[in-house]
Amino acid sequence: MLDPITFFVSQFRDLLPEKPEPLRSFLPRPYRNAAVRFSGSSIHAFEERRALVEEAGLNVFSFPARKIAGCDLLTDSGTTTMTLEQWAAMVMGDESYGSNEGYFEVKEQIPITFGPEWEQRDELRENFFIFHQGRSAEHNFFNLFAGELRKSLPSDIKGLSNELPPDLKTRIESRIKGMRRPYFIIPSNSHFDTTEGNIEDSRLIPLNLPSPEHLEKNRDFPFRGNIDLSALETLLDTVGERVPLVYLTITNNTGGGQPVSMENIRRVRELTDKHDIPLFFDACRFAENAWFIQQNEPGYEDMPIPKIVYEMFHHVDGFHISFKKDGLVNIGGGMAFKDDGRFTQKYPDFWMKMIDRQILTEGHPTYGGLAGRDLKALVEGLRLVTSQEYLDYRISQVKRFGAKLESYDIPIVRPTGGHAVYIDLDRFFAGTETDDEDLKGIAFTALMLVAGHRLVELGLYAFGKLKDGKEIPPNPRVNFIRASVPRLAYEDQDLFSVAEAVRVLNDYKDRIPAVEVVYGRDLFLRHFKSRFRFKL
Ligand SMILES: Cc1ncc(COP(=O)(O)O)c(C=O)c1O
Repeated sequence: MLDPITFFVSQFRDLLPEKPEPLRSFLPRPYRNAAVRFSGSSIHAFEERRALVEEAGLNVFSFPARKIAGCDLLTDSGTTTMTLEQWAAMVMGDESYGSNEGYFEVKEQIPITFGPEWEQRDELRENFFIFHQGRSAEHNFFNLFAGELRKSLPSDIKGLSNELPPDLKTRIESRIKGMRRPYFIIPSNSHFDTTEGNIEDSRLIPLNLPSPEHLEKNRDFPFRGNIDLSALETLLDTVGERVPLVYLTITNNTGGGQPVSMENIRRVRELTDKHDIPLFFDACRFAENAWFIQQNEPGYEDMPIPKIVYEMFHHVDGFHISFKKDGLVNIGGGMAFKDDGRFTQKYPDFWMKMIDRQILTEGHPTYGGLAGRDLKALVEGLRLVTSQEYLDYRISQVKRFGAKLESYDIPIVRPTGGHAVYIDLDRFFAGTETDDEDLKGIAFTALMLVAGHRLVELGLYAFGKLKDGKEIPPNPRVNFIRASVPRLAYEDQDLFSVAEAVRVLNDYKDRIPAVEVVYGRDLFLRHFKSRFRFKL
């Protein structure tokens, strides 16, 4: 017979099974609050929020954050609660204009986090560029890259190949309208909306090639973020000369915060090698992607996260990143080119143009639009983000939130992604009299604001377009509400209160009104700017 202490130890251990049930909290958080912020508004203030929602034109971006009594799940970007180590490092920020302390620490940390291949080998040639956020890195990069491509273009480039399957051809041609030829295509598993906007703004063509499983919304598939390898292969085999760069977004934000498998990354590398094309990551959630590989891809179950990250980044020639996600900071972005990567080989002087751009738009390259203290916080964030205990808790919390919604029969994209739960509006409204023109996703988020929580529509309005007075849904069709979970900010109880409000909408979905657009329906990136009103 066991002695009583050993008996109790074994009982306590049984509370922590390998795969905990999502709705029972066996695991305490691996951290505790060192400071808290009171929301400053009452959950009971429904009428006040109703008035504010209407004043904001039902646009979630315009609603005052201070009036959100519940969870602000608008984004996981820049909303991280920082650790004491980060705050302490910030106090030690060095605000020198040139070559501040944080710059050297970040440069040192990059190869530690992403792998030794990302160390700067050439004394002069900078290989890592700091920007104030991800989109600024994207904007400057694509602008410069488009200029570079135009210079090197052969004069006899032909029209789009007839060998392209009609679907791919139509999708590419729909993007070409109004562009001055010649043109180049940048495929990805799915570009994020600003990335897509920046590519288009540079007169290049963004092309999303999500894997077929991505569209099978009812089935669990562990790597729903994968790129469609056969579509990519066809594209490269038929019009490869028009594809100067291939992108993988890890995790795939647009498609549900879904991971990309190592197998998929490796296969894309093989295809790009065959066609001599550089491969880049949009690496915002690289650590979360690595965690999914560890949990779900055979052969990686015993590999530590940092090693998986090294392997992922071994396959690419460059990446851009918003540190507001897996940098665990409130501001910051960057871009890196591998010293001996294909991109640097093809465009050996490109780094100099990046530096000129940094100086013109951000400041000295050694701070890149950030304060010295921001760089210090980033170094601490990069140290923490690949730790097993942080990632285990982070992603299991998102999973528990998803499971809670599902327990109320709310249709979500399965399995849940790393940073957000996506509610599938097509399935949510199935069986009701709903037309795409009703924009019920906008009504959904407006009602959630009245309830006290902020979510965002990423669907027919965010990604669709107005054409000849009619709404054209995105192709491939996506129609989601995204509930992003800020890092280290909320407890399960908070997220469960969001699920309760969604349950009410689900119970009375027939009563969710249509909305009409009163401003901005035909604007570029319209969902940030439009105003709506309920059709009551
Ligand atoms: C996948 C992805 N790429 C790029 C960006 C842009 O980064 P930032 O918000 O720092 O400009 C985001 C932001 O949410 C993102 O999720």
